[in-house]
Amino acid sequence: MRSLATLSLLLGLSLCAPEGGYPLGRKEYYISMPIDHFTNGGAQSATFQMRYFVDAQYWDPQSGPILFYAGNEGKLENFYDNSGFLTKNLSRELKGLIVFGEHRYFGKSLPFDPSTAYNTSNNTYLTVDQVMMDYNLLLKSIRYQYSALDKPCIVFGGSYGGMLAAWLRMKYPQTFQGALASSAPILYFKGAPTAPENAFNDIISEAFGNRSLACNKTIKAGFQMIENIRNDTKRQGDWAALSTAFNTCRPLQTYSDIDNLYLHLMNGYSYMAMTNYPYPTSFLTPMPAWPVNVACEYFAGFPVPTEGEVLATDEDRLVGGLTPDEQKTFTAMLKAVNVYFNNNSSTPNCTNFDDTDATGDLDGFGWNVLACNQLAMPCANGPNSMFTEGAFDYDAFTQFCEATYKMTPRYEWVWRYLGGNDIQRDFKAISNIIFSNGELDPWRAGGLNDEILGNDKINILFIGKAAHHLDLREPNDEFDPQEVKDARTQELAIIKGWIKEYTSQ
Ligand SMILES: *[C@@H]1O[C@H](CO)[C@@H](O)[C@H](O)[C@H]1NC(C)=O
Ligand SMILES: *[C@@H]1O[C@H](CO)[C@@H](O)[C@H](O)[C@H]1NC(C)=O
Ligand SMILES: *[C@@H]1O[C@H](CO)[C@@H](O)[C@H](O)[C@H]1NC(C)=O
Ligand SMILES: *[C@@H]1O[C@H](CO)[C@@H](O)[C@H](O)[C@H]1NC(C)=O
Ligand SMILES: *[C@@H]1O[C@H](CO)[C@@H](O)[C@H](O)[C@H]1NC(C)=O
Ligand SMILES: *[C@@H]1O[C@H](CO)[C@@H](O)[C@H](O)[C@H]1NC(C)=O
Ligand SMILES: *[C@@H]1O[C@H](CO)[C@@H](O)[C@H](O)[C@H]1NC(C)=O
Ligand SMILES: *[C@@H]1O[C@H](CO)[C@@H](O)[C@H](O)[C@H]1NC(C)=O
Ligand SMILES: *[C@@H]1O[C@H](CO)[C@@H](O)[C@H](O)[C@H]1NC(C)=O
Repeated sequence: MRSLATLSLLLGLSLCAPEGGYPLGRKEYYISMPIDHFTNGGAQSATFQMRYFVDAQYWDPQSGPILFYAGNEGKLENFYDNSGFLTKNLSRELKGLIVFGEHRYFGKSLPFDPSTAYNTSNNTYLTVDQVMMDYNLLLKSIRYQYSALDKPCIVFGGSYGGMLAAWLRMKYPQTFQGALASSAPILYFKGAPTAPENAFNDIISEAFGNRSLACNKTIKAGFQMIENIRNDTKRQGDWAALSTAFNTCRPLQTYSDIDNLYLHLMNGYSYMAMTNYPYPTSFLTPMPAWPVNVACEYFAGFPVPTEGEVLATDEDRLVGGLTPDEQKTFTAMLKAVNVYFNNNSSTPNCTNFDDTDATGDLDGFGWNVLACNQLAMPCANGPNSMFTEGAFDYDAFTQFCEATYKMTPRYEWVWRYLGGNDIQRDFKAISNIIFSNGELDPWRAGGLNDEILGNDKINILFIGKAAHHLDLREPNDEFDPQEVKDARTQELAIIKGWIKEYTSQ
């Protein structure tokens, strides 16, 4: 899931009840889904094959619940492989049936040919309400297939998947008896009273600055240097040197190339902050443990720049080319960002600035369609940001969406359809949702972090030293901070309570 500042930015029951026991390990299945659930109840809609995984290895058909992961914007394997708390730990603790659903338009669950799926008219079925109905119907089917009509189903998700988990519990409580919404920024929408537009990038900048002020302030200075070179008409001759300094795969030739380099780097740093995990991981890209710390090592020994000081003037340069300050800063910035792009390799790949999304294994196209329709999450940069200061430009984003996808963003759709711009009123009557957010995670800015007064059926967990949905990862006794160990213990206890409540009714 990406912030927008980063954008230039039924039941087709395939009844296959297993004979002779359930297969061990993760198995892949497909279910037929109407492409459009809401025209004539989906009855006359064409269908597509939606992929899902089941692991019945630890399931106790007598007493075990269904543990469902609501897939987000990428191929399902990504989420399966990075949700070990669910697949390896809760599955056994609760003797649960593990089910993972793949989000329509991602991975192998494509209603249209991938080359045209995101084009006008084909992209209109890529919506939150359609995918929520997919998951609702998938679970109805699973309950039949596994003779589990009376079993509770707990829905899990991280990031956008966490948003879906919370919303599925709100909209379909008959299907989902509880939800763990990890790092789910359900409140990061236009005009959010609890989520200032600057907050996302402020937390990123703070994460780097907490390691050392030389780190976030030099990065900020470096971004200013890039912009200065871009904007100064007398320095077009230095674009070649800028290309060399950042080891670009092809030379920077246009203003838009430099803008794309900027976005590529910015997104690299942002994703590094999001996935700042305590041991080596391979989620969006492979990275060493505590990648933000590793990146900041490259700024060790740099003086802490004071605002504005680094802006080299033309006079500083005798014959053109980069100033020594620029050279030194760009070299460190490149090594630092390659912690994300190249696993901190000492022989990194060239910088592919055409990849502005920089999402690694996630799929930018599909997310852009969601963002251009129902999920526009506006991120701006304030004075504490290490990126260039600027408000979120609603007009420019609207124009981008109309030009690219022929969609006009519905900036307040989430407020209308799901609520949240008045949390105390809107969430008074919802129940059985854990909202967990990590201290290190920029998306916590859009999470539900406040208790809902008088509603003790909503649990708010703030996890110190944790990045984006760390709690969903497999427990790591050696490297996990105590805070995330405690959070998982609490989550398990709360989920057991929901299961008990449902099965004793
Ligand atoms: C689940 O993780 C916790 C914390 O690491 C551990 O104590 C427990 O034994 C694990 N349970 C299973 C069944 O693996
Ligand atoms: C929509 O998808 C269909 C089937 O994949 C394709 O034939 C059609 O050209 C696409 N429409 C557009 C506007 O790309
Ligand atoms: C469909 O989208 C692709 C990019 O995803 C674009 O290259 C192509 O021109 C589009 N086709 C039509 C018919 O709009
Ligand atoms: C930065 O450090 C402060 C003070 O220790 C802490 O409160 C804050 O949560 C930290 N922020 C991040 C993103 O690490
Ligand atoms: C840098 O990090 C410090 C410490 O976390 C923070 O106070 C500051 O706002 C950050 N950003 C900039 C641009 O200095
Ligand atoms: C550089 O130019 C762009 C586009 O004209 C403008 O938005 C930006 O504010 C300028 N930046 C600086 C540092 O002058
Ligand atoms: C990342 O680097 C580490 C240490 O150099 C190495 O052990 C690991 O295999 C690398 N991972 C990938 C996917 O390249
Ligand atoms: C990152 O790479 C640098 C330079 O090769 C090396 O000194 C450092 O040990 C690496 N750090 C990790 C955590 O792999
Ligand atoms: C980086 O280069 C390696 C080979 O050195 C290649 O396997 C890998 O796919 C490249 N990564 C990217 C993001 O291009």
